[in-house]
Amino acid sequence: MHKFRTILTAAFAVGALLGCQKKENTLKIGLAGVQTGPDGEIGTAPIRGSQLAIDEWNAKGGVLGLQIEAVSRDDEGKANQAVAVAQELVAAGVKAVIGHFNSGCSLPASEVYHQAGIVQITPASTNPQVTERGFNQTFRLCGRDDQQGDVSAKFAFDSLELSKVAVIHNKTAYGQGIAEVFRKTFEAKGGNVSLFDGLASEEMDFRATISAIQKSGAQAVFFGGMYNQGGPFYNQLRQAGFKGAFLGGDGIYDGELIKTVGAKADSVFITFGPDFMATESAKPFLAAYKAKFGQDAGGYAIYGYDAANILLEAIQKAGTTDADKVSQTLRSQSWKGLTGDAEFDAKGDLKKANYVIWTIREGAFAVR
Ligand code: ALA
Repeated sequence: MHKFRTILTAAFAVGALLGCQKKENTLKIGLAGVQTGPDGEIGTAPIRGSQLAIDEWNAKGGVLGLQIEAVSRDDEGKANQAVAVAQELVAAGVKAVIGHFNSGCSLPASEVYHQAGIVQITPASTNPQVTERGFNQTFRLCGRDDQQGDVSAKFAFDSLELSKVAVIHNKTAYGQGIAEVFRKTFEAKGGNVSLFDGLASEEMDFRATISAIQKSGAQAVFFGGMYNQGGPFYNQLRQAGFKGAFLGGDGIYDGELIKTVGAKADSVFITFGPDFMATESAKPFLAAYKAKFGQDAGGYAIYGYDAANILLEAIQKAGTTDADKVSQTLRSQSWKGLTGDAEFDAKGDLKKANYVIWTIREGAFAVR
């Protein structure tokens, strides 16, 4: 009996040791966001960017002496799937998450991370509410829709000298949110929103909406939504003879938009961050991205790369993966990245958002 107990104890000890070793062998980081479906193209880019940063850290020896294991999950751009993904990542033992992409996914998923005490940095979710709920460990490495919608409306009124704009959105946290900000700023400046309407995000036949836009006397359209819908919407507006400007936010900043509307698309104006990909320091990243994934980095790739680097640097500096300590460290200094110097405020937002106006020139996005 005694012998049996000794064996049992030894077996437990070995088991515990193995279990322990397994746990301590790698540091798991969740990469979450839309990777398939209509937003798959735009959402995959930041995940790949993060993956590249993790590869580089691993090649240099990892973080806290551990190799980093990326645990990537596709939320398909759906809120319920985002919650399932968040629960899975927590169960898998990730120490932090980079994601999600869509605000409609980050909002519910962040509740799960908040409860589990896991740091989350989204590279792309711009809805103000993401950081307005007092979650100490939620951060974003991008601007907010109350900033980009505001920039877009001011541009429409001041630079394009528009006085009447139709505002159409896709009824999501992102699309409707940014549309409401555009309307508020445009009206505050003295502009008139001749039509404010929402469309299901899978709607691809815009005839009824376009006819209402034309009847309203709008000179231009602001679209709060994503590229996969924005492209066909723009094309159908032009087919219907609508010649006015087409404005939108970061959700339509994707190469697929250009493929859909064509190189000759005119008067498309998009708010997005500055042209970080044109800087000298971005060159190695862009080359490494192309070498690994066989295609050019999309707009948000560089944000995913920076988010991972900043997170890992903060973990390294904090000397722990404890969410409170990492969050405190994230807020404690300015972080150098390819997207500039990032400094987080108490909410977890960037202290400086720097939206600029982009357009399509010779078949590529170009700063206006
Ligand atoms: N900025 C977009 C969103 O928040 C991608 O959903």
